[in-house]
Amino acid sequence: MKFFIDTADVAEIKDLAVTGLVDGVTTNPSLIAKSGRPILEVIKEICDVVDGPVSAEVTATDHETMMKEAALLLKLADNIAIKVPLTVDGLKTCKALSDDGIQVNVTLCFSAGQALLAAKAGAAFISPFVGRLDDIGISGMDLIADIADIYANFDFDTEILVASVRGPQHVIDAAKLGADVATLPPAVLRSLYNHPLTDKGLDAFLKDWAKTGQSIL
Ligand code: E4P
Repeated sequence: MKFFIDTADVAEIKDLAVTGLVDGVTTNPSLIAKSGRPILEVIKEICDVVDGPVSAEVTATDHETMMKEAALLLKLADNIAIKVPLTVDGLKTCKALSDDGIQVNVTLCFSAGQALLAAKAGAAFISPFVGRLDDIGISGMDLIADIADIYANFDFDTEILVASVRGPQHVIDAAKLGADVATLPPAVLRSLYNHPLTDKGLDAFLKDWAKTGQSIL
């Protein structure tokens, strides 16, 4: 399973990239706004840090302008994936860009029917938002399972990119379902390292080790 980082905070991305666990980055207009920086500058910097796909989202709502925005974003680096919303114009843009060999991430997916359309439009990634579905009392993971079944039935190459991830359990559940990618807020990636018994066990080992008076080096 690949891990993307869901942030436009370059310092966070640099900090996590050194772990070797970061396979890509996703951004969206809200994350760019949170960074307080110009979109082109921040996306370019992220692409310099991470080799894998960096999703940069168009902000137009009509196909023609989406294509123009995509053309500008694609000039920034070779590893840009264009992110489009799951709308009629978004999927028209997805089809046109995918036909040109460009990676497209279709975002704001909340149903299996939408995911089917995105795959038929040639999306490299479909981003179902599990956390936002859970928030309204619908199981986000049931959606991941449905999409996985449908994509397997027809051998679609579109990768399932689990988005709107709220905690480690989402990552574990998505991994059990065979999702290709999870995009994680930095705090969620860091939380995957943690277990109280790891801390407790290490503390006990170090105390016992100190009593020996030994040193490996
Ligand atoms: C990533 O591609 C999505 O934009 C992001 O995961 C949305 O997460 P949120 O629901 O926490 O805003």
